[in-house]
Amino acid sequence: MSGLSELYQEIAVCQRCQLAKYRTRTVPGEGKEDAEIMFIGEAPGWHEDQQGRPFVGPAGLYLDQLLASIGLRREQVYIANVIKCRPQGNRDPLPAEILACRHWLERQIELICPKMIVTLGRYSMAMFFPGKSISKIHGTAQKRDGIIYFAMYHPAAALHQQSLRRAIEEDMLRIPQLLAQAESMTETDKKPKQLNMFEA
Ligand code: URA
Repeated sequence: MSGLSELYQEIAVCQRCQLAKYRTRTVPGEGKEDAEIMFIGEAPGWHEDQQGRPFVGPAGLYLDQLLASIGLRREQVYIANVIKCRPQGNRDPLPAEILACRHWLERQIELICPKMIVTLGRYSMAMFFPGKSISKIHGTAQKRDGIIYFAMYHPAAALHQQSLRRAIEEDMLRIPQLLAQAESMTETDKKPKQLNMFEA
């Protein structure tokens, strides 16, 4: 059994936070085990909770289109979320839930070892770009410890706001070039060893 399958089994019985009581299924993530690009969204919604798969509702269809714009299918990348269970009523995830779930995401990143992590939305961004504002840093990249971190708006937000839609589509188009430059890109000096999503 692969490391990811074992991880999925552990996540399936997770009781680390209150969301375990309300979920239909856990939504661990899916995609290529050795994907070069890992997309990290926020939390499962209703469709994801029903199917146990990430980004399968309207935001997911749009993510599929964005991937297609750079010649990729979801099977060629890895897609996960900051938290693995749906918050009731699609409310925002609570800090305690994000903290409880963080362990799973860290193990996923270790197993997949992506060249590039693309954050989708502000909760995901906050984990890797602490203290930053998405309107300022979307479309920008940082390299730390050999991984390129790239921040994008959340597809669900971009679906409904024309200005964000243009931004997310343009940002997506930057990914192939960034990936091609992965080796030669210089590391960002400041590397927060302990990434802290709760910083200002
Ligand atoms: N929004 C997310 O952030 N993740 C999903 O899986 C679906 C919608």
